[in-house]
Amino acid sequence: MKPTIKKPTIKIGLFGLGVVGQGFFKVIARATNAHAEIRRICVRDLAKPRGIDVPRNLLTDNPDDIFLDPEINLIVEVVSDPEMAWRIASTALRRGIPVVSGSKTMIAANLPELISLQRQYDTAMLYDASSCGSIPVIRNLEEYYDNDLLLEVKGILNGSSNYILSRVFDHGEDYASALSKAQRLGFAESDPTFDISGLDSLFKLVIITVHALGVYVSPKDVFTYGINAIHDSDIRYAREKGVKIKLVAQVVKVSDEEFTMFVMPEFVSPGKYIYSVDNEYNGVVIRGECYDRQFMFGKGAGGLPTASSILSDVMARLHGYRYEYKKMDYINRPAYTTDVTLRVYIRYSSTDIPGLLPLQCVHEQYLSADGNYVVADIVLGDLIKHRATLDAPDVFIANMTRFFVDRDN
Ligand SMILES: NC(=O)c1ccc[n+]([C@@H]2O[C@H](COP(=O)([O-])OP(=O)(O)OC[C@H]3O[C@@H](n4cnc5c(N)ncnc54)[C@H](OP(=O)(O)O)[C@@H]3O)[C@@H](O)[C@H]2O)c1
Repeated sequence: MKPTIKKPTIKIGLFGLGVVGQGFFKVIARATNAHAEIRRICVRDLAKPRGIDVPRNLLTDNPDDIFLDPEINLIVEVVSDPEMAWRIASTALRRGIPVVSGSKTMIAANLPELISLQRQYDTAMLYDASSCGSIPVIRNLEEYYDNDLLLEVKGILNGSSNYILSRVFDHGEDYASALSKAQRLGFAESDPTFDISGLDSLFKLVIITVHALGVYVSPKDVFTYGINAIHDSDIRYAREKGVKIKLVAQVVKVSDEEFTMFVMPEFVSPGKYIYSVDNEYNGVVIRGECYDRQFMFGKGAGGLPTASSILSDVMARLHGYRYEYKKMDYINRPAYTTDVTLRVYIRYSSTDIPGLLPLQCVHEQYLSADGNYVVADIVLGDLIKHRATLDAPDVFIANMTRFFVDRDN
């Protein structure tokens, strides 16, 4: 008779039963190979009606019912409140309980502390779901691209803003109706600021950079500009040039010693991989010295896609997997620089953009009673210095990709 090998059982304490938590509840029920079961679920409001049939005795609003349960050996954290997410993750790690999380805001803000807690208490935290939902970006960067050859990670990391831009470019809708459609379909938050301001992409980029290059850059030090100020005239300009505007996040090695990173709208020409990433999809291009470009495409958000990534991390824990953050200990880690020159398009009317910004070289300028634009070179560090100017309601800026002209994807 064939001997049966008894696998250890993962007993999960789940925090959060919203979009992702419910997705995970459904997915885990089908995942027999995970040898995992949900033992307790902590929510904020016990009385809230749930869209799924969850046994009442699983639910609690007391985190200690999970932390003090000696049977629970893995915590899955998918709450919407970053403060609470931090309390959950840090408490669990201090107790030696591994954590699987999807909370990009909390992780991007606290990654150095989370790494040191994992090392100090010899436990693990996995969070592939935090960046691009179902696309396995983090684990691939951590394991497969663990060498000096990685040059760039660039992509569309936010599904809501991409959906809005797709409706505008491919279906001729105006921005406001595209936004309300995104909200109706559940792609955008009821407060969509997080998505369209670029913050969601920024937090993912910060996490990606740690696993791509082994360097943590605080979100406050990264130039981030979203799509909220986009105007019909910008869309017209892009159409005339035969390009689309996409919200792009990128981390790029500019030399062996230095890299840069930023999030901003970009004019993307046909033929580039990300040109055809439409609707709520995400797409990530990874460029390296020996393999040119590789492209990952898929659903970057939503209950089930994100839950599938959480499940993958749960299964990885079954096999004892953990991030080792090897690149953080490399002898030569590149340094973050903002001393790079970008070519940008800036549309403005009442704000005196040419007078206020240290533009290095003007390539194109258009002035009219209805509005103006300029295409010029500017140092990224100067964009950061003058960030407040770019928040004026009559201003919109987009990257022209000139800096990466010979290797743009
Ligand atoms: N939605 C996506 O597609 C997606 C994709 C990738 C990553 N994520 C990340 O996953 C996390 C969850 O997102 P979501 O879309 O599932 O959010 P959501 O639908 O708003 O659900 C949030 C859940 O967190 C619970 N919660 C909030 N504060 C809590 C507290 N103080 N104590 C206990 N529970 C608390 C809520 O409890 P109640 O139900 O009782 O209010 C709710 O069940 C976020 O960090 C998000 O950034 C989401």
